[in-house]
Amino acid sequence: MATMTRADALQQLGNHMIPPEMAKGLLHPLRFLVERPKKQLARVVRPGDTVVELGCGSGYFTRYLSHMVGAQGRVIAVDVQPDMLSVARAYINGKAGPGRIDYHLSANGTLGLELSNADTVVLIHTLHEAAGTETFLAETVALLRSSGRLLFMEPKIEVPPDLFAWEIKLLEEAGLTKESTFTSLFGRGAVFGKP
Ligand SMILES: C[S@@+](CC[C@H](N)C(=O)[O-])C[C@H]1O[C@@H](n2cnc3c(N)ncnc32)[C@H](O)[C@@H]1O
Repeated sequence: MATMTRADALQQLGNHMIPPEMAKGLLHPLRFLVERPKKQLARVVRPGDTVVELGCGSGYFTRYLSHMVGAQGRVIAVDVQPDMLSVARAYINGKAGPGRIDYHLSANGTLGLELSNADTVVLIHTLHEAAGTETFLAETVALLRSSGRLLFMEPKIEVPPDLFAWEIKLLEEAGLTKESTFTSLFGRGAVFGKP
């Protein structure tokens, strides 16, 4: 953070998006060895939760979310690329848990969700891709109820430590309180609460 300015950080975010051709790569069996979905999601997800997953991609975490929220819970899986949502639907078909999954395509620079009472937001490996970082984060925080929580993760390979530190700061500026940080083989993360 010492050498990277806020403007530098904002310039580096939101410029590149994983192409849909790589959607199936996100589901590669080797990934399950280095990034355990249940272990990460258990930091915030509880039975009965309404969870918004921003940047669900091909559904790697979505499938587990639908099990973890249980029959009383709900998962809103959001992505900006229609092809990602198609891959996610096909992947999860037959593997979903009892929690209802609603797939939502965000478009025109807005999440487009009329929701302000989510218990949990899951933002995994997505913030560095999201265009219009500050607007995106303001909309993200608005989804959460008071005392709701957000699980944030980024891949080490795409997001160096100084940029990750700025992302944490931007999440705090958007209105969240950092509760904890953690690292895994593959990434860095943090859990936030909404006051
Ligand atoms: C690297 S992928 C990660 C997918 C998934 N979270 C995972 O870990 O497997 C990032 C995803 O975020 C989506 N994305 C990027 N910007 C977005 C935005 N503004 N709103 C919703 N999804 C977005 C991309 O289309 C892509 O599917």
